[in-house]
Amino acid sequence: MQSGALRLSFRFILPVALVWALLAYAVVPSVDNLTLRWFVRDLDARSQMLASALQEPVQEYLGQKSPKRIADLFDRTVQDQRLFAIAFCDVNGKLLYKTRTYPESLDCMESGWQQTLRQGMVSLPQGSVHVTESPLQAGGKYEGKLILVHDTSFIERRSADARKYVIALFAVLALIMSLLTILIAHFSLRGVLDALKDVLVGDAKHPARHGKPDSGSMQPLAGDLRALLYEYSVDKRAGDDSSRQWTPEKLRVLLREELAGDEVLVVSNREPYIHAQTATGLQVNRPASGLVTAVEPVMRACSGTWIAHGSGSGDRAAVDRNDRVKVPPARPSYTLRRVWLTKEEEQGFYYGFANEGLWPLCHIAHVRPVFRSTDWEKYVEVNQRFADAVVQEARTDDPVVLVQDYHFALLPRMVREALPKATIITFWHIPWPNPESFGICPWREEIIEGLLGSTILGFHTSYHCKNFLETVDRYLEARIEHDTSTISYGGKLTQVESYPISIAWPDADQAQPDIVTCRQQVRQELALPENHLLGLGVDRLDYTKGIIERFQAVERMLEQYPNLVGKFSLLQIAAPSRSSLDEYQNFEARVRNLAQRINKRFGSGVYAPILLRVEHHNAEQVNRLYRAADVCVVTSLHDGMNLVAKEFIAARDDERGVLVLSQFTGAARELHEALIVNPYHIEQSADALYRALTMPEIEQRERMRSMRSLVKDFNVYRWAGRMLLDAARLRQRERIMTKIRSHSRSSLRRVV
Ligand code: G6P
Repeated sequence: MQSGALRLSFRFILPVALVWALLAYAVVPSVDNLTLRWFVRDLDARSQMLASALQEPVQEYLGQKSPKRIADLFDRTVQDQRLFAIAFCDVNGKLLYKTRTYPESLDCMESGWQQTLRQGMVSLPQGSVHVTESPLQAGGKYEGKLILVHDTSFIERRSADARKYVIALFAVLALIMSLLTILIAHFSLRGVLDALKDVLVGDAKHPARHGKPDSGSMQPLAGDLRALLYEYSVDKRAGDDSSRQWTPEKLRVLLREELAGDEVLVVSNREPYIHAQTATGLQVNRPASGLVTAVEPVMRACSGTWIAHGSGSGDRAAVDRNDRVKVPPARPSYTLRRVWLTKEEEQGFYYGFANEGLWPLCHIAHVRPVFRSTDWEKYVEVNQRFADAVVQEARTDDPVVLVQDYHFALLPRMVREALPKATIITFWHIPWPNPESFGICPWREEIIEGLLGSTILGFHTSYHCKNFLETVDRYLEARIEHDTSTISYGGKLTQVESYPISIAWPDADQAQPDIVTCRQQVRQELALPENHLLGLGVDRLDYTKGIIERFQAVERMLEQYPNLVGKFSLLQIAAPSRSSLDEYQNFEARVRNLAQRINKRFGSGVYAPILLRVEHHNAEQVNRLYRAADVCVVTSLHDGMNLVAKEFIAARDDERGVLVLSQFTGAARELHEALIVNPYHIEQSADALYRALTMPEIEQRERMRSMRSLVKDFNVYRWAGRMLLDAARLRQRERIMTKIRSHSRSSLRRVV
């Protein structure tokens, strides 16, 4: 308040003071000088006229030697208001006649008076007078001089009047200048603040700029500022990333310190623990889901609540009256809140819109997406149901909400509307297609708008981020900052960033089954000889996983290298998935048929090159298989990340085994020491498989060691930690912008 008053008075007083100084030191003296010169010129002219008029009578009366008449003449003449006195001096400089008013000291204006005259002005004790001398000539002969003395007090009066008018004029001018200064300062301040706010925050009212630079004068400055902030945050993030060995404990500390709270809510369709009603009672299963594999350890580290669809036959029996159950069952550390869906809801939301629409839409696996209005309606309804559950479960008005996957594209906006202060981190676990492909979705705008309710929107790769930004650019009127990867929509910022998902690295003290034992036992269970070469595929039975292409590669390899027939088998674990959908049923049939055909062609007796197990395996069983295999084969046609690749690496503490990996997985961007293949190129995959099976131990060790060190550091806690750190920074940035906005409003109020 004080500084505002100071600023205001400064803006007012400064122009006034300037004008006053100008007035005192330049204008008034000039005005005085000017008026004096005008009046002196006037008096000179009057004196000349009077002197001429007096010439004749004075000469006449001089000739008549009539001093009385001269005196009368002079007295009559000084009746003139301004003429003060007259005198006549003869040729000898003797004062002959004068009026009574004539100042004695002037005498005949001899003896140095000329030097003291300035513009005819003489300073006398009774005040200033104007004096002129006019020679009197008769017949060309000099006979003396007339001295006319004018009163100049009227000049003083006129000068004072003029000064008054000038001062009044300048006072008005000063006032106008002061007001102008204040107004200019006010408007330019508001302009600057508006421009700054507009540029930094983005403005929903001007959304059509699409990230193109503003024409406003603040744009370059703000652009630089933003770029600087972004560089700083990237540097800081790099520093944070490298300085942190990401562990569950670090994640907990981060939540507490950077996000001022530990309330984490996860929302996903698939639940981390499924209760099944069996003949022997309730049984708990872990689903085959990359999402669950990744998020569950994070949740164990952070506590909080996981909201998911209760899809198990024993789920209702396991929950309390608030539909909650503490998990993991062995060592409960967080709450699972189940949301119930009717058969119709599950059909429309999960099978229909999510898995017949969005899933094939986002994966380039050559299966046509199907969109139905009825499915969409259910998708909207169920998203709202889950959003309501988030609001219900939140203990504070600013929880950290981790939204998972394509089942909940609308939920971020719904939660944002109910809890504006929430930090919403959405992770899209599957690829994001290019704008043309995404444009097929009849509700594309709604989907993107829903996702832009998020604080952070994460994808596995920068390629998917780029596709998303381009899709927004194509279909929404939003402001996109490509250099900082942020989108401003409806006055809210969303950061779009790549966060490659990962797994929890096994604890050093976590007992692992012995490798040799695993190899032996698994081969025994499969009725295979001791040194049988074993390839392993672990997937959900899904058309995106490239299982058909994998079998074809095995077939091709056996064709090319017949010496491997009878010595190699591929064990394919295929967890049944979304089996009520035609596309999945057809796929299962094709997979089974192909396995049969290849087995018929190359199998003999008990030997089968393809060992297909369409059934669910738990994490422990899968871990044993990883440790027993010689090669793990991941040939997805398109995959956001694929955690099987990382799990296999984590399981191989013997630094043996080879990974064959599709170039169309997110994992291929990180695991460069894998044998990277194009699964559509069957010969290439067959060659890679052969190379893997015949790779020298030393090369296996080199490759495995390098990949293990990467996966160990780039673990799932780092994945979650980086998102939470970015969310904390964005929250901070929002807070700063809110402060700037309120500061700009209050300073404007003060100025006005
Ligand atoms: C993918 C999806 C997950 C999903 C999982 C299993 O990994 O990204 O969201 O949970 O598949 O699919 P399901 O339909 O059985 O949940």
